[in-house]
Amino acid sequence: MKEAGLALATLDVLLSLAEAAQARHFVRPRVDAGLVISIREGRHPVVEESLGRGAFVPNDCYLDPDSQQIILLTGPNMAGKSTYMRQVALIVILAQMGSFVSASEAHLGVVDRIFTRIGAADSLARGESTFMVEMKETTRILRHASARSLVLLDEVGRGTSTFDGISIAWAVAEHLHDAEYRARTLFATHYHELTDLALTKDRVKNFNFAVKEWKGEVIFLRSLVEGTASRSYGIHVARLAGLPAGVVERAKEILNNLERGELDERGQPRLARGARSQVSPQMALFGSETNRIVEELKKVDASVLTPIEALNLLHVLAEEAKKEGR
Ligand SMILES: Nc1ncnc2c1ncn2[C@@H]1O[C@H](COP(=O)(O)OP(=O)(O)O)[C@@H](O)[C@H]1O
Ligand SMILES: [Mg+2]
Repeated sequence: MKEAGLALATLDVLLSLAEAAQARHFVRPRVDAGLVISIREGRHPVVEESLGRGAFVPNDCYLDPDSQQIILLTGPNMAGKSTYMRQVALIVILAQMGSFVSASEAHLGVVDRIFTRIGAADSLARGESTFMVEMKETTRILRHASARSLVLLDEVGRGTSTFDGISIAWAVAEHLHDAEYRARTLFATHYHELTDLALTKDRVKNFNFAVKEWKGEVIFLRSLVEGTASRSYGIHVARLAGLPAGVVERAKEILNNLERGELDERGQPRLARGARSQVSPQMALFGSETNRIVEELKKVDASVLTPIEALNLLHVLAEEAKKEGR
């Protein structure tokens, strides 16, 4: 009786897979002992289903530990990075469980484990401990990944401040590249700075999702292209989402300052016009030197200053104010 039930259940699974394969135009993958993952016109089976026929844009994937071990995906939110990473993982899982896959062609070197660091970035509200979880998961990946593993890192470092985040993301990618086992990796980040990794690390390749600007609007084409995105469309997305016009304008201004040079001659981040290296990045983001002087003044307790101290302070602040005017 138990055997019959088991047999029926197996049949049910196989039949369902066959049905899905036929209805959704899946193909039979080639799975072998190699290390290359090559997918042509892959689709995310679930997202595709929810978008309706023809609306999903298929994308290729090529991972090879010898030439293209790490794909660094950059681009703004909503570009399609997370969907793409999950789609590659799903195709691998489908193939290894004996199913046809959502692609027009797939050749997959067997994967022993899929490591993921995904998700918490989308629920930042959960607070600081999110970052701890993120780091613990990343640690586990770096400790246990092998040459056969597939590693998906989605927005690593997002749970902390920008500079911390970029530094951690950079170091993690570098480690995965330099480690002997060369795990095949998809690395999504909205930190554009990371694209510079490809300059020094041979097997890191930059890809981004094509975006078109049309009549001041941003259109996500959702097709993956090699290279780095020419600019950030995050601000446009913010505007589409209805962020107040004043905030959007100010963000554009800060972005322009950033793009003029991210680091000054002392190697300090230049986050806003007029920012000087002794100004903390946080301060610089929200105001100029003037605000800093006001903050300094607020700290002053005139009743305890000697006349000479008062005169010195006045001199220092006056100099600061003059510098700003230049
Ligand atoms: N290849 C695609 N074709 C069509 N729509 C897509 C595709 N990839 C993603 N999308 C749509 O875009 C939305 C945002 O994608 P997502 O992967 O979350 O972007 P990101 O991670 O870059 O912020 C998804 O909810 C999905 O509706
Ligand atoms: Mg995402």
